[in-house]
Amino acid sequence: MAKQIASLRVNGQACDVIVEPHMLLIDILRDQLGLTGTKYACGAGDCGACTVLIDGQPCFSCLTLAITVRGKEITTIEGLGEGGTLHPLQEAFIGKAAIQCGFCTPGMLMSAKALLDENPAPSRQEIAVALAGNLCRCTGYVKILDAVESAAAVMRNGGRP
Ligand code: FES
Ligand code: FES
Repeated sequence: MAKQIASLRVNGQACDVIVEPHMLLIDILRDQLGLTGTKYACGAGDCGACTVLIDGQPCFSCLTLAITVRGKEITTIEGLGEGGTLHPLQEAFIGKAAIQCGFCTPGMLMSAKALLDENPAPSRQEIAVALAGNLCRCTGYVKILDAVESAAAVMRNGGRP
């Protein structure tokens, strides 16, 4: 199969991209759409840096063939906030100092969003399980768990701290 135009929905916008059968979603996002918030690290499904949501479910974009996501709703870190307003998870990661180098952060945030969309009041253990596929070499994870707990509480309170 040769190159073809595929219509994707990314962060609520329809966009046409050029796809070949071997092309990965992460490469389309970063190279064709300029959405470089999604990070490439291991390329093997081990680190979670490349996590995006596909129809609301966290997926490794480094292992996802772009051709398979036609017609699906893709959400990247660029689509997490609204307009110029950060999502409560982003606010909490900043407020709780859950970011150091930041390379894991977009993937962590997308996995956390998927969790809170399904479970607005997760236990600490449930948060840890939801983020188990996202590795962080800097923070030691405690502040990340604190941040997700804090964001969940804010969201349950209608966005108010
Ligand atoms: S870059 Fe995709 S899981 Fe590591
Ligand atoms: S903040 Fe550096 S890898 Fe997580």
